Amino acid sequence: MRIAVCPGSFDPVTLGHLDIILRASKLFDKVIILVSVNPGKTASFTSEERVEMIRAVTSDIPNVETDVFDGLLADYVKKTGAIAIVKGLRAVSDFEYEFQMALTNKKLYPDAETVFLTTKAENMYLSSSVVKQIASFGGDISHFVPPQILGVIKKRLIKNY
Ligand code: PNS
Repeated sequence: MRIAVCPGSFDPVTLGHLDIILRASKLFDKVIILVSVNPGKTASFTSEERVEMIRAVTSDIPNVETDVFDGLLADYVKKTGAIAIVKGLRAVSDFEYEFQMALTNKKLYPDAETVFLTTKAENMYLSSSVVKQIASFGGDISHFVPPQILGVIKKRLIKNY
């Protein structure tokens, strides 16, 4: 079975993430969406909340599972026998950071390849941080996140004026 791991902060999962997950699910037998720790970011949602949101929006994709891991991605990939790490690329600005991670993960676990999927043009500007900022000011995020998790995000992030 060809397994891929799709890691990220997913804080929260966006339509951009969902597009990458859906396309990855057509390329591999099984895709594990992995809620991981990015030491450079402070999360707004707990990992359990992020997993719940991902499960809610991927329940109709049969070969996708969601997991959480707070260690090294390369160790998780090795443990699961995955052959690939799938990442979405939005723009050239993502590339340097993603390239560095891909090379590092290859060094730590040479048996897996990092596979980059380019985002859809309409999701190029989309990020979890942008979604959080819009939601915190009471703006409309319905174009950016799946409908199933709109309420949870708004409830958590909207500022009380
Ligand atoms: O969605 P993000 O924040 O860009 O995802 C980055 C993430 C979480 C995939 C990355 O920080 C990561 O792999 N964290 C796990 C710890 C690890 O393995 N770090 C070394 C990677 S070079």
